[in-house]
Amino acid sequence: MTVQDFETAARTRLDPVHADFIAGGAGDEITVRANEEAFRRLRLLPRVLRGSAVRTQEVTVAGSRARTPVLLSPTAFHKLCDEEGELATARAAAAAGAIMIVSMASTVAVEDIAEAARGAGADGAPAPLWFQLYLQPDLEFTEALVRRATDAGCTALVVTVDSPVRGAHERDLRNGFLDLPDGLRCAHMVDPHEGGRVRSIAMSPEISWAHLDWLRGITSLPILLKGVLHPEDARLAVRHGADGLLLSNHGGRQLDTVPATVELLPEIRAAVAGRVPVVLDGGVRRGTDVVKALALGASAVGIGRPVMWALAEGGEKGVRRLLELLREEVDQALALCGACGVQDLTPDLVRAPAWGP
Ligand code: FNR
Repeated sequence: MTVQDFETAARTRLDPVHADFIAGGAGDEITVRANEEAFRRLRLLPRVLRGSAVRTQEVTVAGSRARTPVLLSPTAFHKLCDEEGELATARAAAAAGAIMIVSMASTVAVEDIAEAARGAGADGAPAPLWFQLYLQPDLEFTEALVRRATDAGCTALVVTVDSPVRGAHERDLRNGFLDLPDGLRCAHMVDPHEGGRVRSIAMSPEISWAHLDWLRGITSLPILLKGVLHPEDARLAVRHGADGLLLSNHGGRQLDTVPATVELLPEIRAAVAGRVPVVLDGGVRRGTDVVKALALGASAVGIGRPVMWALAEGGEKGVRRLLELLREEVDQALALCGACGVQDLTPDLVRAPAWGP
């Protein structure tokens, strides 16, 4: 019935250590909780007598068209949840016409994920696939990965910039979950030049704006920066040629105690002044959350954990049902707000507590 139900159901199937990996965050998990709480504290103020029987959820973000404003944020290791892993997720996303962001830390290679998505689009149109990247200090390796994603048909790159070091996930440390189980590996980190050696993903504090400039120079794909939280960095991102922002605190998995993303949305929107789209993720669990974020100016929203729970609960079918459920809830909320589509969602529909800098 609800997005939350998937977590409850998945927990009966998953190894509790893996469930902790999915649910957990950094430090005291203050930000993990804040993301959901912030949505709960926002109130909708609907309009009446101006609706339509036909409502659309279609959006275009950074040149990619999708049938839903809900996209799949990049999450690592889908094979922890289902033996088909990202293939199952990609088929479900394609059937829903949803943008899927493939994680660099996926357990299936982007070429195979793209193939699965191509075969599953409902109306024959290829469903948009984006690729998430942690810029590696080894630029040659990074460039090869960008080429692979481009050749596979990805239509945008999402560069995660909130991870100069890995967040401290205390649940994983206590559980001793420090590596993938035998037989699973990060498909993109297998180095053919080194006899198939699996590299680990480097999170490097030396990555800087200069690296983004370098990336801008080697690809013509749209680049979205994921994890910019400070308005000054949002302005810098635009100046350095970013085509969009994915306003994210990594689901509370990097720096703990940062604000909820939806709290920051008005400030970040003001900083970029309409020059680039802002996608938001973190704590989106209800159709009303989607509507609130879009009304406050997000072009789309991402979901992370719900996809993992749905995948663990029911594989491809589970993720299909999750996306359908959110589509139904968004449709219901649009109708009750007097909106014919996401374009009718405006900030006056949301009452927010006083959040300030
Ligand atoms: C993530 N996230 C993430 N982000 C990223 O840029 N690259 C990655 O590989 C991952 N991996 C990952 C694994 C798991 C298990 C989770 C839960 C999250 C963060 C993700 O993209 C997104 O920002 C958050 O999950 C959004 O918050 P919610 O929807 O989980 O509340």
